[in-house]
Amino acid sequence: MNKTVRIVVAWLLAAILVMGLTACNSTKDNSGDTPTSTTAPTDTKAPEPTATSTPVPEPTATETPTPTNTPTPTNSPSPTPTPAYDYETLHKTEYTSLKEAYKDYFLIGTIYTNIITSGKDKDLVLANYDIITPENLMKPEEMQRVQGTFKYTESDKMMAYAQDNGLIVHGHTLAWHSQSGNWLGTSAKDREEAIEQLRAHINGVAGHYAGQIYSWDVVNEAIRDGATLPADGDWTKCLRETQWTKSIGLDYIEIAFQLAHEAAPDAKLYYNDYNLDQPAKAKIAAAMVADMKSRGIPIDGIGMQGHYSTTTSLDNVRKSLDMFRKIDGIKVSVSELDVQINGISKGKYDGEQEMTQAIFYARLFNIYKENADLIERVTFWGYKDNTSWRAESAPLLFDANLNPKEAYYAVLNTDAYAALGPQEIKLTTKKLEAAKGTPVIDGEVDDCWSSATAYEINIPIMASQGASGTVKYMWDENNFYALFDVKDGVLNKDNSNTYEQDSIELFLDPNNCKDSTYDKLCGQYRCNYESSLSYGTVPSRDGVTAQAVKTGTGYRVEIAVPMLIEAKAGVVMGVDGHINDANDKGARISVMKLNATQDSDYTNPSAWAEITLK
Ligand code: XIL
Repeated sequence: MNKTVRIVVAWLLAAILVMGLTACNSTKDNSGDTPTSTTAPTDTKAPEPTATSTPVPEPTATETPTPTNTPTPTNSPSPTPTPAYDYETLHKTEYTSLKEAYKDYFLIGTIYTNIITSGKDKDLVLANYDIITPENLMKPEEMQRVQGTFKYTESDKMMAYAQDNGLIVHGHTLAWHSQSGNWLGTSAKDREEAIEQLRAHINGVAGHYAGQIYSWDVVNEAIRDGATLPADGDWTKCLRETQWTKSIGLDYIEIAFQLAHEAAPDAKLYYNDYNLDQPAKAKIAAAMVADMKSRGIPIDGIGMQGHYSTTTSLDNVRKSLDMFRKIDGIKVSVSELDVQINGISKGKYDGEQEMTQAIFYARLFNIYKENADLIERVTFWGYKDNTSWRAESAPLLFDANLNPKEAYYAVLNTDAYAALGPQEIKLTTKKLEAAKGTPVIDGEVDDCWSSATAYEINIPIMASQGASGTVKYMWDENNFYALFDVKDGVLNKDNSNTYEQDSIELFLDPNNCKDSTYDKLCGQYRCNYESSLSYGTVPSRDGVTAQAVKTGTGYRVEIAVPMLIEAKAGVVMGVDGHINDANDKGARISVMKLNATQDSDYTNPSAWAEITLK
């Protein structure tokens, strides 16, 4: 063969190889029940090159032109070439289980539900974990749905299972605004009666299992979203308004700790909350716990829930641990760890996304190891993806068939995985499109909306997950339009903070500044389910119009924001969509976002999606 022929043959070989690999590397669906060979738990798993990796065909790489038309999977998170990982080496480990690997560091935990009491799930759980937390069954509404009637059947079963199998039990939870039934704390006629209700509940639960339950989440999620510690350090100004603040007052937290200590004097007592990686919230928790500790309130630790995603700032996690370390005599437990794969849905991920999650877990566990003297326990909020409360984003270490994911090996082999990949895992910026058209802002779905794509708003920001929905975008020379369709069975606007009412928010960055602060055209526009408009920072309120209508399953909002730039096809803007969900008592229980993943991202245009005017 002459050189030209050799090059053509080599190019063809390369193209065939690439196409074959693309087919082999189609997105994994790990949400089903059927075992698949791609996820077999073998240490000899072949490297999974992806379609973006450049194959090395014969005869020699130097003579081979790189195909320029390499097919790229549509959901590939980045167009950069994927390194071929040496899975065999990565999976080599001296440990046989998670708890063995961490026996010199801290306890390793998971949640208790019925499914861990038998079969392969039981074997896996007993092999890997030291300690269990009941996922739901010890929450107030489960333990005492009817005043004075405690239900011990399920909790007794769990205690027997723990005892038979040598597991420690962490209790969750005693005083919480959520999953607490419809009378506890809300039906008391005055403070004294409310304290009595709390005392009776704590005695009936923590007291009943005194000596058997090692530690308790005494108070759960007491800090208001978006709060910042005031200059005077008064953390009580940062509390969420709940049945307990209303019936007892701002001192309900210390009362709960005292009651728990009286009921179960040997139990370690924790304050537990989410988003404690975020500096503002961590500061409030630190102030609260330090203040209580210094006044002799019996509190032993801070529970950092750890509902993270692959874009959570590890630097923030480290800084929060540093902050909590300064509180004398306080331990930290990571109480509900899971790491959502950013940007996926239906539990489906490809090899590169799986690896991104694994690298995140490895780096996170390296931080935990460095803080092993501070950390008492790391509990995962489950073990397999398909039964996780966040199954959609595959946040755990095992798949539906109990096969270990890369994340599992990463937690065993932290250094090897931590060294892989980019130092900073970037947020996926979704690329969206706005259709051209001029809808009438009346809440009715005009025909022109049919040419716009519906985007899911389903990234949970708070610990709990409530109303979700879709949004479509449209534009013309005069306005930017959005049509939100929200699924929400309970509509409420009692809260005086408009952002805590059932409402949607449109975030618009007309210049696509992608900065961490607003430029002069960025804006936050809010509309509740009864068409009431309100605003965060906006360039102008002039000409903003919206109309909401109730649907059978929730509500719909059509909103128009005047164009502040010259709009033409091809222009790219920054955009995001949020859904605020209030419960029947007027407390916001959930925020869902389209692209951003952090509570604080409402101030951060760089975390929003990009939209092209079509
Ligand atoms: C979650 C459970 O995992 C779900 O099954 C349930 O539907 C809602 O609650 N913070 C907490 C946990 O403290 O109790 C929550 O658990 C997750 C967020």
